[in-house]
Amino acid sequence: MKTVTEPNYNNSSLTPREGTENETSRTLTPLPPPPQKSRMPGTELQDRVNLLSEIMLAYAGVMFLSSLFMRAPYGRYTSTRYGKLTIPSNLAWFIQESSCFFTALYVLLTTLRRSIPSVNKVLLFMFFAHYFQRGFVYPYLMKKSQEHPLFITLNAVLFCVYHGYLQAFYLVEAATYPAHHFYTPQFLLGSALFLIGMGTNMHSDHLLRSLRGSGESGYKIPRGGIFEYVSAGNYFGELLEWWGFALASWFSLPALSFAVFVALFLIPRGMHHHKFYQEKFEDYPKNRKAIIPFIL
Ligand SMILES: NC(=O)c1ccc[n+]([C@@H]2O[C@H](COP(=O)([O-])OP(=O)(O)OC[C@H]3O[C@@H](n4cnc5c(N)ncnc54)[C@H](OP(=O)(O)O)[C@@H]3O)[C@@H](O)[C@H]2O)c1
Repeated sequence: MKTVTEPNYNNSSLTPREGTENETSRTLTPLPPPPQKSRMPGTELQDRVNLLSEIMLAYAGVMFLSSLFMRAPYGRYTSTRYGKLTIPSNLAWFIQESSCFFTALYVLLTTLRRSIPSVNKVLLFMFFAHYFQRGFVYPYLMKKSQEHPLFITLNAVLFCVYHGYLQAFYLVEAATYPAHHFYTPQFLLGSALFLIGMGTNMHSDHLLRSLRGSGESGYKIPRGGIFEYVSAGNYFGELLEWWGFALASWFSLPALSFAVFVALFLIPRGMHHHKFYQEKFEDYPKNRKAIIPFIL
């Protein structure tokens, strides 16, 4: 397991410090160390990022193991086993996902770092764009859906706060991407994947919403877009997004940990959805895969 938190550049960019944005790998003369009284030493920053990322990876493993025995109990698999208290699903999505947005915003607004490198800023923008969409736009557009158990929502809030803190702490406080990272194949391809993934996810969520008339709550066969290839088109888009984000950050440990979490959570759930459709609809398209076109 990779345990460094910085992108794999040469030493000129490995140590988090101020004022290195415009340095490139060609910089030979090291700058004098800047005053860092207000920030943690670089090793402490890295230790914290590594520890938090490893905890997230462990949690992803736990979620995956639990998915072998049960289906994540919200939406079509909602269950009273987790308490009879439920809340409307749009409220649940708003509370849990906006908590990620606000936590990251808090980290950004309270930083003592004097300047955040431009690449970090762009990665942060991608992160905020996703959570603005998921935390505010998605719940606003949602059609009538199954209520969420309050217990599951509170769990999700804890996870989202943790995730928002980790990603923002890494990008705001710990990482220093040099400006030439913008022109690397990993950043360009990763950002493109992120955008395509976000578009696919939003379009698929839109297609799902259009399946229900007002007041309806049943399930129909999703059609169109990526749903012609997979049962869980929105999850495929989400996977592309976060693996693209991880690639754009050159597989920083926080981004990679979250991409692994997304895969270990959404692939089993997408396979459950696939089985659900196959059992419910006799005429379900036979050539449709569960979550990854032509593969799975
Ligand atoms: N990054 C992550 O770790 C993560 C984790 C989970 C979800 N997400 C994202 O959050 C969004 C929502 O996730 P989700 O798990 O709730 O997705 P989902 O199970 O596909 O449900 C999405 C919405 O569409 C409705 N719906 C789904 N299939 C339908 C059908 N066949 N007919 C009619 N309505 C249908 C659902 O209603 P019901 O609620 O009534 O079933 C729900 O309102 C997705 O974009 C997903 O990618 C991200």
